[in-house]
Amino acid sequence: MTETWTPASWRNKPIRQVPAYPDPAKLAAMEGKIGSYPPLVFAGEARRLKAQLALVQDGRAIVLQGGDCAESFADFNANSIRDTFRVLLQMAVVLTYGAAVPVVKMGRMAGQYAKPRSSETETKNDETLLTYRGDIINGPEFDAATRAPDPQRMEMGYFQSAGTMNLLRAFASGGYADLHEVNRWNLGFVERSPLAERYQELSGRIDETLAFMAACGMTSNTTREMRETDFFISHEALLLPYEQALTRVDSTSGDTYACSAHFLWIGDRTRQPDGAHVEFLRGVKNPIGIKVGPSTDPDELLRLIDILNPRDEPGRLTLICRMGADKVERLLPPVLRAVKKDGRRAVWLCDPMHGNTISSNAGVKTRSFDAILSEVRSFFDIHTAEDSWAGGVHIEMTGQNVTECIGGAHGLTMMDLGGRYETFCDPRLNAEQSLELAFLVAEELKARRHPGRTHAVAAQ
Ligand code: PEP
Ligand code: CO
Repeated sequence: MTETWTPASWRNKPIRQVPAYPDPAKLAAMEGKIGSYPPLVFAGEARRLKAQLALVQDGRAIVLQGGDCAESFADFNANSIRDTFRVLLQMAVVLTYGAAVPVVKMGRMAGQYAKPRSSETETKNDETLLTYRGDIINGPEFDAATRAPDPQRMEMGYFQSAGTMNLLRAFASGGYADLHEVNRWNLGFVERSPLAERYQELSGRIDETLAFMAACGMTSNTTREMRETDFFISHEALLLPYEQALTRVDSTSGDTYACSAHFLWIGDRTRQPDGAHVEFLRGVKNPIGIKVGPSTDPDELLRLIDILNPRDEPGRLTLICRMGADKVERLLPPVLRAVKKDGRRAVWLCDPMHGNTISSNAGVKTRSFDAILSEVRSFFDIHTAEDSWAGGVHIEMTGQNVTECIGGAHGLTMMDLGGRYETFCDPRLNAEQSLELAFLVAEELKARRHPGRTHAVAAQ
């Protein structure tokens, strides 16, 4: 029989990646304080997202999930929130056109502050300190005081998430997300791109479609969907004391929801079936994700699915695959087949970032645009071959013009990484690279809907 779940039952399980706070009384006081604060999202919104993910699971929509690897307290300002939101919307429009289905939009935003790390410590010039684990836990500067886990940071994380969420809500419903505006930004992107000619066809068609719709009377004034959008927030549910403090019982259903974000996921390093992170997410009703990396054993994944979605609820579970461009063809099909054979359903997302991290000669972490695109293409090919629905992409990106990933139309090289390398954790696609990825993926999606069409046209 399954043991009883409570918001605190994770405390009886083995836990990985959670810091040892030096002062437990201070931690408990902060948990109490955040426990009394208002929720950041509402249960009804999480249910709405779950219903949209159920459509994705059924092959009737796709997901675009993106944002920073790690949000930073120092970079908390309206411009950076706006720019990331804007690029996500621009990408979503292009993908909607390519896939001809709705795109569910989720930011890695308003709470993506806690990071799993491969080493406990970091050594520089003979000094060994705890590693940086994200701003909600400790600070990035290399000094002992900053690297000590500090519960006070949870309160900052809460308020910055609230501020970010507030702006996102305003953008999503206050006119900023107007489809005509988003289209204009895309036309601007295409004009600036060295690959303008290639992208013009798609952007031109979207532009014409909008003009046609306007002529039929569907404008921002007449049609809500043209001027507003749903935008959901998500982060890795790593820091369980914080997550527990933000659980709330929904008064309409009596169910418990994690109210720090609409969607939470379990990282590749914390997905042990008998571990604390799985225990916590088992009991909250939100839609949730699991990162599926190269070490995933198909049988273990089935066990996880049983624990996390025992009744096979549509939209509950998203499997975020991050195998790496060179491994995906070997590793993904057995996982897909095992889940299908067991009669289980989930949303399948491709995270083409985390399996494709490399180091430059100078030891700087980067990712190549080509490897990222290649993993996405393989992911779609594999799903087609297995008669399964590729549910979308999960990427690390920013609206800023950083130089963290190499490649793309502007041809960033390892030499350029020094220019604007600003991430606090993993390298992100910049605004142009993100849009380019969306255009290329949209081209693919469109071609798959009309197999052979390009040939037919060429043959005429
Ligand atoms: C992440 O998404 O930033 C991350 C750490 O991913 P993973 O758990 O897949 O390594
Ligand atoms: Co990352």
